[in-house]
Amino acid sequence: MISPEQARSLVDEAEFVWHQRFEILPGVTTPGSSDIGWLMTHARTPQDLRGKTALDIGTTNGGAAFELERRGADRVLAVDVYGPERFGFDVLRDALGSTVEFRQASIYELPQALAGEQFDVVFFWGVLYHLRHPMLALDNLHAVTRPGGEATIETAVCDHEIPELAGEQYTRFYRADELASDPSNWFAPTTRLLQDWCESSGFETQEIVSWPTEAPARAMLRGTPVDGLPEYLEISYEYPLRAEIQPSQSAAAPSRD
Ligand SMILES: C[S@@+](CC[C@H](N)C(=O)[O-])C[C@H]1O[C@@H](n2cnc3c(N)ncnc32)[C@H](O)[C@@H]1O
Repeated sequence: MISPEQARSLVDEAEFVWHQRFEILPGVTTPGSSDIGWLMTHARTPQDLRGKTALDIGTTNGGAAFELERRGADRVLAVDVYGPERFGFDVLRDALGSTVEFRQASIYELPQALAGEQFDVVFFWGVLYHLRHPMLALDNLHAVTRPGGEATIETAVCDHEIPELAGEQYTRFYRADELASDPSNWFAPTTRLLQDWCESSGFETQEIVSWPTEAPARAMLRGTPVDGLPEYLEISYEYPLRAEIQPSQSAAAPSRD
């Protein structure tokens, strides 16, 4: 474990981007814009996670993953589509003496990469709008969340852009860099659609919050997996989504209407 002086030097001299704001050591805070403490409060993450396993997808600097470890989770796995050096996860893990594991993987391949392992506490913060296939990602998020566990999904929403449609099931598609001048952004649903997407993927909504209150640009949903198959698998015959379901679990063969 590094000293406070070493932690300050790490913050000041890092060659990677600080995306997240979190306390490395008491009194030493990173300068990123994504405030991990604030997000954890809104996610209602328990202070005591002993006996739980935790998964942080899109970990970036690892701020949420290190906090999950601090709160006592039995096992914490941090996942990102980039390697651990990109946002300094490896440097921070060594500096903190952390045992958080890291897996380089996309949400698109995560159920296979985890070989069916599921987690009690799953964070999927700030990733959904970066994806061209958001519903596939939510389906996979459901697959890696243990029954009885909880996932929190935090994302950009478009309510503030289309206030007259904010209560409806709409999404905005952003071609090229139309959202925040960032070409890695693709979709922002309304808060209402975020809830429908998550429920279609097999989550029961525990709470959904959005902000700023008057014209939401971000939202967070806490969801628990429903018992049995997710809704979309009960009713869809789309292949390959159904490919891994056992024949005994399959819905009746669809009519051709
Ligand atoms: C805006 S940052 C969010 C960071 C963090 N979760 C937070 O809320 O502070 C998005 C992160 O998601 C990662 N990411 C993007 N696409 C991904 C994918 N398909 N699977 C997993 N991670 C992805 C990016 O590399 C980046 O680290």
